[in-house]
Amino acid sequence: MKIVIASDHGGIGIRKEIATLLDEMKVEYNDLGCDCSISVDYPDYARLAAEKVAKGEADRGILVCGTGIGMSIAANKVKGIRCALVHDTFSARATREHNNSNMLAMGERVIGAGLARDIVKIWLETPFESGSRHENRVNKIKQIEHVW
Ligand code: RB5
Repeated sequence: MKIVIASDHGGIGIRKEIATLLDEMKVEYNDLGCDCSISVDYPDYARLAAEKVAKGEADRGILVCGTGIGMSIAANKVKGIRCALVHDTFSARATREHNNSNMLAMGERVIGAGLARDIVKIWLETPFESGSRHENRVNKIKQIEHVW
C-alpha cells in the first residue's frame, strides 16, 4: 500500500509522528510537506495529496492541520475522495468498514500524537465491508459526484 501524507504548519508534529509510525510499519509513503514553520494554506496541501489519491498515484492519504476540518473539507472537493475527519479509534474503524474512506484527516490542536498513531494504525489495517449494505451506500455517494 502506498500512502501520501501532508500537513499545514498546524499539523507538522503529528505528521512527523505518522511518518515514524509508517516507517515502523514498513508502509511506503510520500511526505508532501509542508516543511516550513511559517503559515501556509491548508487547501494547497489537501489538494496535492487528494489529487494523488484520486489519480491512483497513492492508495490512501493522511492529512493533518490544526483542527483537521479544513483539510477534510478541501480534500472532499476532489472527485473520488472520501476523506474522514477522525479523532477517536471507534470512528477510525467504522469509517473504513462503512465508508471505505480513502483519506484520513486529523487535528493536531485536538488530539495528541499517541492517539493519532492508534487512529492511523486502525485506519490502515481495517478493511472495507465490501459486498455489504455499505457498498451500496458508498456507491450512492459516488453518484452524487455526477449530479453537479
Ligand atoms: C491554521 O491556523 C488552521 O486554520 C488550520 O490548520 C486548520 O485548523 C483549518 O481547518
